[in-house]
Amino acid sequence: MKILAIDTSCDETAAAITDGHRVLSNVIYSQVLLHKKWGGVVPSIAKRAHEERIDFVVNEAFRKVGNKNFCSLQNIDAIAVTQGPGLAVALEVGIKKAKELAIKYQKKLIAVNHLEGHIYSAFVQNSQGNPKRDFKFPYLALIISGGHTEFVIFKSHIKYEIIGQTLDDAAGEALDKAAKLLGLGYPGGPVLERLAKEVGNEDFHHFPRPMLKSNDLNFSFSGLKTSFYYFLKKNPNQTSEVRLLASSFQEAVFDTLIKKTEKAIKQTGINNLIISGGVVANMRLKKLMRDLVKKYQGEVLFPSYKYLTGDNAAMIGVVAGFKAEKDLFVKNIDELDRIPRWSL
Ligand code: KG4
Ligand code: ZN
Repeated sequence: MKILAIDTSCDETAAAITDGHRVLSNVIYSQVLLHKKWGGVVPSIAKRAHEERIDFVVNEAFRKVGNKNFCSLQNIDAIAVTQGPGLAVALEVGIKKAKELAIKYQKKLIAVNHLEGHIYSAFVQNSQGNPKRDFKFPYLALIISGGHTEFVIFKSHIKYEIIGQTLDDAAGEALDKAAKLLGLGYPGGPVLERLAKEVGNEDFHHFPRPMLKSNDLNFSFSGLKTSFYYFLKKNPNQTSEVRLLASSFQEAVFDTLIKKTEKAIKQTGINNLIISGGVVANMRLKKLMRDLVKKYQGEVLFPSYKYLTGDNAAMIGVVAGFKAEKDLFVKNIDELDRIPRWSL
């Protein structure tokens, strides 16, 4: 089943053509440079950039499939689009385009939750069908991105149960804010990773690990951010030691993620993990997660290719394939609307 998938949930304009688990083409037009100077995503700029780029990105997705697998809007089987969660004005652009094309070419429409995309990103294959990963339900999934930090039990296809989430900032958001306080620009995660590595990923300052005492599986990173802010205020000349601060902050966030994940493994008895979302681009976090899972004789899957860690439409197309098998198409195209706070 060939699907055109579109995701405009935040600051990447993305389209992909998928066939089952396989990605035939994937195009991501990042807006990072547009938002960089504002230190974060500006909704009005995101909306305009999506509108300006969406046609190009969709056309490019078809062009990249190439002549061998001749593919056009006429001969695909369905169109998939991210309905939420995300930035309302950004989601709107992708949904409008998907509806327009579905009506014009008389295609079925599949609405996908962006977070299920992140979960399925561990099973996305290249055009050759690699890697081959069988589903071994249930999984304990942890999505760690700029907007979300959530534990989900992935029970079977398209069946999820949220068992913990952040009460305020997401882990990626916390990293971004700390980097901003250090004057390191946006997005902060990759810069902190590089600086932390230079000083051996050590924890020099022992910033607080929020919520570790509580038995639930929720996160809260705003207290850590506040304590970091006051530390910088009280110690203004510490900024010369930016690498030590970056490393200590990153360790505080990762230590919290690891300890909560350990709690989640113990509470659910599931040692079969999926860790996905933008923050797992981080090699330090991957190593810590691998070590943790080894301790419980489990397995951990990460997004199968690096481009699948951040936002992309390939993962949306793969989810849509499973939804199509369950006949989960949009019933009334005219009524399809964005759901900015859509929970799994
Ligand atoms: O999944 P994603 O691309 O977008 C959302 O859906 O939010 O995640 C973006 C987040 C940002 O907070 C960014 O700083 C973080 O992922 N990130 C990283 C790294 N690369 C991106 N965090 C830590 N280390 C990285 N290498
Ligand atoms: Zn995302």
